[in-house]
Amino acid sequence: MWQYGQMIILGIETSCDETAISVVKAEGGLEDLRFEVLGSALHSQVKMHEEFGGVVPMLAKREHIKNLPPVLIEALRKANLIFNSEFSIFNSENPGIDMITVTVGPGLEPALWTGIKFAEELGQKWQVPVIPANHMLGHIASVLFELESTKAQVKKRVEFPAVALLVSGGHTELINIKSWAEMEKVGETKDDAVGEAFDKVARMLGLPYPGGPQISALAEKARQESIQQENKFPRPMLHSKDLNFSFSGLKTSVLYYIKNLRNTSENISQVKKLEIAREFEDAVIETLLTKTKMAIEKYDPKTLIIGGGVIANKALRENFLKLKEIYPDLEILIPEKSLTTDNATMIAAAGFIEYLKGGKETELKANGNLDIN
Ligand code: KG4
Ligand code: ZN
Repeated sequence: MWQYGQMIILGIETSCDETAISVVKAEGGLEDLRFEVLGSALHSQVKMHEEFGGVVPMLAKREHIKNLPPVLIEALRKANLIFNSEFSIFNSENPGIDMITVTVGPGLEPALWTGIKFAEELGQKWQVPVIPANHMLGHIASVLFELESTKAQVKKRVEFPAVALLVSGGHTELINIKSWAEMEKVGETKDDAVGEAFDKVARMLGLPYPGGPQISALAEKARQESIQQENKFPRPMLHSKDLNFSFSGLKTSVLYYIKNLRNTSENISQVKKLEIAREFEDAVIETLLTKTKMAIEKYDPKTLIIGGGVIANKALRENFLKLKEIYPDLEILIPEKSLTTDNATMIAAAGFIEYLKGGKETELKANGNLDIN
């Protein structure tokens, strides 16, 4: 059924609190990658971790083990690779998968292992290779998909050199990308990741986990109603010459500011929450923009890629797209909203890139601190 050069890839992602599986058709080489999503499914554990105010690794592991089989069946069904209800994961024939790719890091190791073990079992049963994928490469590759045109052939090329800003719950990094086969981390956070700062500030305001969307909604409302805090929070490391970030100082400023408020009033008023959310978000945006501009000046890229859960933030997206006014020749690529947060579609793409690079020899072993290269 499939033409020569095409591959049907099953991507598996369990690095944090989303159990995700995606079936992606991949073709082309490193110079002309082409992907099409055939079917994907995702089970989020966010509700379960919410009561603990963050992801609990052992609970995440248990949930992944429970949810991987039904998520797989849903993804295969959506991809029209299985049709009846009799499909049983380890007793049925290979439904048409040529290769499996699974996230091996970075992430929570107990969670990562569940995906790896599942992938290995499937790989043995179906007699297909299992390729390890880097989660951060996945966030970069997430810009290669155009979901609106679902079934149409998608050609989204990245012109190199490129710079990527990755902003998620666990990472804040700048990557200098010479090609899909050659990239290096050139800046990172010295303490909290930006998503983590969003989550912690949200908790200070009594908002549920994950805090990013909560803060984002408050900040948006504040802007609409022209509500602004007089007191400015610091923009950490703005004047340092390197491309590193730091968000713990900003987080602490918010904490002290809130503590001060409580000296006079028991609860933070809604207006204060709006003010704080907006001022915090503005500080984050300014910091991310400034460091990204420094990276652009330094590496003179043709493309800027922004990936990771935090770029779901509307104000951040808008501000980054405005960089076009300063750098008219710069292509700015931001993933479709559903591909900003963790998903397996991007892992299928990252695995295919690894495969083309010849990364087949890499160990299938969870590495919580896996670097990008
Ligand atoms: O990439 P991701 O799904 O998971 C990791 O690999 O960490 O990112 C999750 C992070 C969380 O910290 C969440 O609060 C943040 O992304 N996030 C946002 C928004 N949506 C999700 N942060 C700011 N604004 C948002 N709209
Ligand atoms: Zn992620």
